[in-house]
Amino acid sequence: MTAESAQTLTNPHSRNDTPPPWGDACWIGKPETEAAQATPVGRGEDRPQDTMTLKPLTYLRREFDLKQADIVSARLNVTALGLYQIFVNGHRVGDHVLAPGFTDYNARVHVQHFAVRDVLVAGRNVIAAVIADGWYCGFVGFDRGRQGRLWGEVPRLLARLEITLDEDTVIVETDAQWRRSTGRFVYADLQMGEMQDGRTEPVGWTASDFDDSTWSPVHADAVDMNGPAFTYSAAPPITVTETLLPQLVRPMGGKRWVVDFGQNLVGVVRLRIDGGTPGQRVHLRHAEALTPDGNLYTDNLRSALAHDIYVCAGGSEEFRPEFTAHGFRYAEIAGYPGTLHPADVNALVLHTDVARIGTFSCSSPELSQLNENVDWTIRGNLLDVPTDCPQRDERLGWLGDAQLIMTSAVYLRDLGGVLAKWTQDIRDAQTPSGAFPDVAPRAGLEQDGAPGWADAGAIVPWIAFLSYGSTDELARNYESMSRWVDCLVANSPGLIRTRGLGRNYGDWLDFGTATPRYLLGTAYFAYSVEVVAHAAQALGHTADAARLSALWADVRAAFIAEFVDDEGRVDGDTQTGYAMALHLDLIPAELRERAADNLVAAIDRVGHLTTGIHGSRFLCPALSDAGRSARAYDLLFADKSPSWLHMVANGATTIWERWDGWTTEYGFHNPRMNSFNHYALGSVAEWMHRYVAGITPMRDGPGWRHCLVRPHPDPRLSWVAASHQTTTGEFSVRWDYEAPQFELSVRVPPHARATIAMPGQEETTEIGPGSHNFRTELAQNWMAAPALSPDRLHHTRA
Ligand code: BGC
Repeated sequence: MTAESAQTLTNPHSRNDTPPPWGDACWIGKPETEAAQATPVGRGEDRPQDTMTLKPLTYLRREFDLKQADIVSARLNVTALGLYQIFVNGHRVGDHVLAPGFTDYNARVHVQHFAVRDVLVAGRNVIAAVIADGWYCGFVGFDRGRQGRLWGEVPRLLARLEITLDEDTVIVETDAQWRRSTGRFVYADLQMGEMQDGRTEPVGWTASDFDDSTWSPVHADAVDMNGPAFTYSAAPPITVTETLLPQLVRPMGGKRWVVDFGQNLVGVVRLRIDGGTPGQRVHLRHAEALTPDGNLYTDNLRSALAHDIYVCAGGSEEFRPEFTAHGFRYAEIAGYPGTLHPADVNALVLHTDVARIGTFSCSSPELSQLNENVDWTIRGNLLDVPTDCPQRDERLGWLGDAQLIMTSAVYLRDLGGVLAKWTQDIRDAQTPSGAFPDVAPRAGLEQDGAPGWADAGAIVPWIAFLSYGSTDELARNYESMSRWVDCLVANSPGLIRTRGLGRNYGDWLDFGTATPRYLLGTAYFAYSVEVVAHAAQALGHTADAARLSALWADVRAAFIAEFVDDEGRVDGDTQTGYAMALHLDLIPAELRERAADNLVAAIDRVGHLTTGIHGSRFLCPALSDAGRSARAYDLLFADKSPSWLHMVANGATTIWERWDGWTTEYGFHNPRMNSFNHYALGSVAEWMHRYVAGITPMRDGPGWRHCLVRPHPDPRLSWVAASHQTTTGEFSVRWDYEAPQFELSVRVPPHARATIAMPGQEETTEIGPGSHNFRTELAQNWMAAPALSPDRLHHTRA
């Protein structure tokens, strides 16, 4: 198939823009009655008892004539229920993958928009498309019961091409005149994988000189004007962002090879195949890890098959799966004709095309690697929505995981568009009572969200505002954020959050000490109210801001009365309880020191961290806030489970779901829940950027117009450097520390300013754009100096 890109207008990224009306365009595809014509797909050796049926993909085409070639413009608006690729005169339109992306298709369908004038010709033209199940009717989440099909039975295409000529306009739209057939795609599913049979591809079907007289008429449904909203997505498209070459191709005997790409990634394997006999099957399997004998470890994929199969047509061929994505570092290739050479195989990295805008490096290669692992985990969990994991039968937009990583992710990647898109998904999923869900888009999980998950509906828009500074975007979320506060109040008798807790997961995956769930819920209640109060203030809703600030003070008082005793002991005595209470300012000022001592005691009692996904985000920041950064560094430098560097020390290239996903003593953790690409525990990257390097975007200058630079050096690091591309240029910080000499260099871009707080000093210095150097003498034990007061910290909190 010709895959040359047409001249296209990329997705305009104009937030909430509505495409022009569809005219008479219809949803087209095959009739639902044909959904049953499917291929049984077995799990083979993995799980012989399981089979499922997967459907062949539908090819669609329509020819049309143009009398003249002097075209003023040609605009194509296109979308699908499912996934699509579209071609004009044999040219692939756009370089996006898995379009139109993942939304709640009952609420909203995203539309892509392309300029295709340059590929049209005078005379006969053709528009052709292939549509696949995708999220719409393929396997999504972990509910096997419906074999996918959360939104519909078969995929559909909707397109309208408007060609403006000098004195005429020609419209070509999806209607009953289109023809349909099938081709090389035997099936394609996001979780199960893709099968192509090169022998069954109708050669030249995307070009105009193809005879489609044997093709069938399409099934066409009118667009329901009361159906889902059509909008252009604010997020960039998913594309191939990088191609990785294999680091190792190991022959396993019997025409079987295991390929190591050296990086846990999300995407597909592209294979060059020469000299296959027609009908010969090449079988690809994917895994994040290997068993001790060098074979793929796939138990943790649960029911996600993640197999791709190519049936050779013969000759020189390329196999590239188009409508699936796998989370893997290793691939097994079986049935390959001849010998597999490294040049025959590479991995295409797929994710929403978000630019890398932040760096962190330091004198510890392990910490620098940890930062890169966090970045790869963010990349791996961004197929149009931020997901919990990319490999097993789940891959949902879990709100808890996302809000936890987001304070780190915004340091590393330009997520403005992604968050504008995903907060719209969250708003689409909010119930009339104001409750947010656990996952957005809602995909089979109908309950209201749990504390720490649902709160993302308030927290994420605020993080986006601090980082990218868009008041319009914050305003778009404000009403739903306010309704969330009302919902919290309604579910919190005496301002303690005891009702409407959904599945109430608590501090998920804690390491042996459970934090009381009402405490965690009420801490998040305070956090939600606080960020909505800040949002009200930022948007000039002064009365709301005053009311919400007073509510925050009341929730804080209720939290203290219920959960904090006179000794600064927080109910449950867990690291998570102390960390959240300290960092969220839920401890009376006079008890902060004692609470901090109690937190340190809770660490010393066991000699390691015990926090789950929530506590882990707050732990190091809370220690630093309390003047105990050295203890945070102790946790960060620990390299035995449970710790971050345990993962790095064991060769991780991404963040694991569990502290002990793999240990020397026990090997792999229970495969029922053991992802190796799960970003929640990576939230420590926020501490590295914000406390170690020391950069915090402030709310009086959102979008990095005003930053606090307040490094927390430690003698275990001799230098740290971090940078961030802002819209006006690079903001960067570097410090060097050889006790007692501490030197700091800061570069502030045009139109921005910074407040410098040198370690160990109470006074601050204001600086504007340009390069600035500071120097001081710093005792190794400077951390023992009194920390800044909570009030000073209060306004810096994200
Ligand atoms: C997901 C988590 C998610 C959790 C809810 C899991 O299956 O993978 O990351 O937050 O469910 O507890």
